[in-house]
Amino acid sequence: MARRDRPDSYSKQARREGYPARSVYKLEELQRRLTLMRPGMRVLDVGAAPGSWSQFAAKIVGSGGLVVAVDLAELPAIEGTKNVETITGDICDEQVIARIVELGPYDAIVSDAAPRTSGNRTLDTVRSAALVEQVLSLCDRALAPDGNLVAKLFQGGEEQRLLHEIRRRFSAGRLVKPKASRDESFEAFLVGKGYQA
Ligand SMILES: C[S@@+](CC[C@H](N)C(=O)[O-])C[C@H]1O[C@@H](n2cnc3c(N)ncnc32)[C@H](O)[C@@H]1O
Repeated sequence: MARRDRPDSYSKQARREGYPARSVYKLEELQRRLTLMRPGMRVLDVGAAPGSWSQFAAKIVGSGGLVVAVDLAELPAIEGTKNVETITGDICDEQVIARIVELGPYDAIVSDAAPRTSGNRTLDTVRSAALVEQVLSLCDRALAPDGNLVAKLFQGGEEQRLLHEIRRRFSAGRLVKPKASRDESFEAFLVGKGYQA
């Protein structure tokens, strides 16, 4: 079994706590350190399947808030949550964007969206950066003033340019690698706090 497919302590914890993916602990750490979401907020979760970030965000925003979860893949029903609205489709598709905008504006946009990896790191990082650019364009169309952003990026040369783009739009921007990101993974998360529309 490949190292990344072996269940580690985060996978076991996710199973115990009823989350469909171990990636929830990346958002949990970012939330603990940076308070990106609060009760009552409207959150857009980009690249949401199989749904662990949406499930976590739905708990934070509570019944007075809403999570809009969008993915290429259809999202399975999330147990115990009534405050999650799903959109199936590509975030580059104008119809999908129109629906995202219609359900906004959002107080936070969180994106774990990632291209299917090809094994060619250059290609994968270019595709990942293109997804981040698309998420930034969603911020410009649907993020409320003072809103927050998290966006996954495969590191490979675009991080400083994208960080600059974030700092241009937000009061503060940084690049974070959470503990739950596997050591061998080249992913990191761009964080923007305080959107200045
Ligand atoms: C790592 S998974 C997300 C895991 C999720 N955060 C969770 O915790 O359950 C990345 C997701 O990004 C989605 N994705 C990639 N490109 C996309 C696009 N252009 N539009 C919508 N979703 C996309 C993929 O379908 C995949 O489900």
